[in-house]
Amino acid sequence: MLRSRIVGTGHYLPEKVLTNFDLEHMMETTDEWIRQRTGIFQRHVAADDEFVSDLASHAAKRALADSGVDANEIDFIICATLTPDFLMPSAACLIQDKIGARNAGACDLSAACSGFVYALQMADALIRAGVHQTILIIGAEEMTARLDWTKRDTAVLFGDGAGAVIVRGEEGERGVLTTYVGSDGSAADILSIPVGGSRYVLTPENINELDRGIRMNGRELYKRAVVAFEEATVRALEGARISAADLALFIPHQANKRIIESAAERIGLEREKIFLNLDRVANTSAASIPIALDQARAEGRVKDNDLVLFAAFGAGLTWASAVVRW
Ligand code: ACO
Repeated sequence: MLRSRIVGTGHYLPEKVLTNFDLEHMMETTDEWIRQRTGIFQRHVAADDEFVSDLASHAAKRALADSGVDANEIDFIICATLTPDFLMPSAACLIQDKIGARNAGACDLSAACSGFVYALQMADALIRAGVHQTILIIGAEEMTARLDWTKRDTAVLFGDGAGAVIVRGEEGERGVLTTYVGSDGSAADILSIPVGGSRYVLTPENINELDRGIRMNGRELYKRAVVAFEEATVRALEGARISAADLALFIPHQANKRIIESAAERIGLEREKIFLNLDRVANTSAASIPIALDQARAEGRVKDNDLVLFAAFGAGLTWASAVVRW
């Protein structure tokens, strides 16, 4: 059977690190509050001259090196991001140029924190339909470009980074077994960046009045995220016709430790099978799962033929999941 196999992974985190103790000097917050509510201890922050296409290109080059695939063999590039360098052109086109992928189509995908898993579903479908053979998926974010460091409700949650995978069509049992996506636009207002699109256009007159950052109703989002996350994990297991006991590892979107643990509990998954890195990198939105995947591999936690579950939720609302046989 033709399957889409992840044949290489890579990630990149900017050098600068801000810990919760650093944030204590920047806003009214405490390390204890942040750690207790979210599990986050530190986040990476992009340099002033580093943008999403730069973070993404570093991660992509590492995934290419890991896979042994040449950049010219890539047929298609999907960059999942909500913080592209520009509204136009796409970050994916800038990445295509930076990595020298001369034979690739390229586009961005907008599904917020679920973007990487949405992209994996699309790549899997394109490969199994015979449209493309080799696809580069990147999740990349510069969330701090959208943060107001005086707003403690959102500023403590996010970080910057990029993760990339090379997906290839191969005959066999290893690869993507199932994917699932969901959405609910009726809850669009509980997590949004309203300014910068066509509805609220920045002008010289309103530039100081409009809030250009992330708007979030944390409590409402928390409630919805628990439900969506559980739904995503259950649907993935059903789709792959496996139980939680069959899983070797669960790599969730790293937004909040409590949300992740409640989803794992719902499917009866032991805590030791959850990969957590949000203490080190915070919430990097679409980059979160591919960064975690690459780190999990580096730590020897993903072995050949292991069943690995990905699950994410994000603005939209969107949620998504996948099971991969490594
Ligand atoms: N430091 C200290 N105090 C704070 C901070 C902070 N950084 N932020 C808020 N508070 C205060 C509030 O002002 C409030 O004070 P009050 O009681 O005097 O009014 C108190 O802490 C409680 O605030 P809540 O918002 O009710 O705190 P809650 O327990 O809900 O935790 C949190 C907030 C962590 C954001 C939680 O709601 C959550 O995790 N929600 C999910 C949101 C999420 O994960 N967002 C990430 C993006 S989603 C995604 O990845 C797609």
